[in-house]
Amino acid sequence: MHGANLGTLLRTCDAVGACLVVPPWSWVDEALARGNTLRHPTCVHRVANPVHWLTTERTAGSRILGVELADEAVRLADLPAARQRTVMVLGHESTGIPPEALDLLDAAVEIPMVGTGQSLNVAVAGSLVLYKLAGLL
Ligand SMILES: C[S@@+](CC[C@H](N)C(=O)[O-])C[C@H]1O[C@@H](n2cnc3c(N)ncnc32)[C@H](O)[C@@H]1O
Repeated sequence: MHGANLGTLLRTCDAVGACLVVPPWSWVDEALARGNTLRHPTCVHRVANPVHWLTTERTAGSRILGVELADEAVRLADLPAARQRTVMVLGHESTGIPPEALDLLDAAVEIPMVGTGQSLNVAVAGSLVLYKLAGLL
């Protein structure tokens, strides 16, 4: 929703050796360019139908990990580094992860908060979890 988030996430993906999966909507390329100051090619997959793509990934054996504040979520400190192909799912800035994608999650991870805000910026949340999954923190 906020222009720089996708590009910021793309930089984190590049730093930890991950790829970014995005829908082919018209504003996506501009948003990627805005927050991404890297000057070399990065790994971006454009998928026509993200929920269908998630279903295919799950069937093929990928672990689908949602990043969301949820009752059943594990805390970030308890999340081990990924030992298998893992897809990390982030939610919309105002509405979170949609129900049809929540149904496909194998697990969820949350980042505890003690301040007054309801949630973190999505690029911050995604970057923290990516570093933990990569075993670099
Ligand atoms: C601004 S938040 C969305 C808040 C939205 N009002 C909701 O109901 O989910 C955008 C996304 O960032 C991620 N996120 C933000 N803060 C988080 C936290 N403390 N723990 C886990 N994920 C978080 C989630 O993926 C969330 O869907």
